Amino acid sequence: MDNNKRPETMARINTQELANAFIDEQVKQVRAQVGDKKVLLALSGGVDSSVVAALLIKAIGKQLVCVHVNHGLMRKGESEQVIDVFGKELDANLIYIDATDRFLSKLEGVSDPETKRKIIGGEFIVVFDEEARKLKDIDFLAQGTIYPDILESDGVKAHHNVGGLPEDMKFELVEPIKLLYKDEVRVVGKALGLPAEMVDRQPFPGPGLGVRCLGAITRDRLHALREADAILREEFDKCGLAKKVWQYFIAVPDFKSVGVRNDKRYEGWPAIIRAVNTTDAMSATIEEIPYEVLHKITNRITNEVEGINRVLMDLTPKPVGTIEWE
Ligand code: XMP
Repeated sequence: MDNNKRPETMARINTQELANAFIDEQVKQVRAQVGDKKVLLALSGGVDSSVVAALLIKAIGKQLVCVHVNHGLMRKGESEQVIDVFGKELDANLIYIDATDRFLSKLEGVSDPETKRKIIGGEFIVVFDEEARKLKDIDFLAQGTIYPDILESDGVKAHHNVGGLPEDMKFELVEPIKLLYKDEVRVVGKALGLPAEMVDRQPFPGPGLGVRCLGAITRDRLHALREADAILREEFDKCGLAKKVWQYFIAVPDFKSVGVRNDKRYEGWPAIIRAVNTTDAMSATIEEIPYEVLHKITNRITNEVEGINRVLMDLTPKPVGTIEWE
């Protein structure tokens, strides 16, 4: 039997009961596969790796070693949430690495989008590899591969992947959710008790805010982007748009315009709002945002975020604009 093929008889997991049955079955399978050995997992805090972590904690507890690499390009509060949920609440074996300085110094002065992505992906593997080598007795590597990854590619996640680990680092893979569709992963995550804001979160690219801090990243502009993005998320939560819009975020380009603040000339960057709806990310439409909400967001961002003096709205569907700016 092909292990990477979803059996036609497998029911769509859309209830707590079906999720619990799936969890029980996977717990048994993982225990049988792993025995008393240790498993390593790169835990980004995204939906897939979080659900795999919660499932494996249930199955093998402290035999799972989670490594969370903070590349300094996370959204506001994301790494803290990983530490709270997995380190504290679920009492996981969690190694937290703040690699912000390493990533940002590698990215210094680099403005080409593809080069930025390569640096971020490459450095992630170097940091993860260093950590894996320190942990000597690991036999397995867990991955948050899901069924669309298998259908759409060769089954290896593009960013946080084993594909990029050095040849001599050979692990057997543990992929407990590889036959699930995304909606099923969320149902299973909820049944495992993960918080809704973790399980229902919108997609976030592996290179994180790195592709939204346009051009060469600087710490001050990255900070402004993170704060403005947090305000956008907060206001979308408050007015119910967070549940309606598939993906929304701020991008900050690397040019300034003149403005005025406290009766003085105030040069700042513009914050660009992007809010799109889609089913498959191949094409996307623009969500109608009430002007009232836009005025409130503009007011808050320009008053609360150091370095931002204008707020703009991107009204371009995909095609012709991609969802991300880089
Ligand atoms: P674009 O910008 O191509 O994005 O319209 C389509 C969707 O893919 C997400 N995206 C990424 N996801 N790693 C990821 O895991 C990446 O490097 C990456 N780049 C874009 C993007 O956020 C959107 O949802």
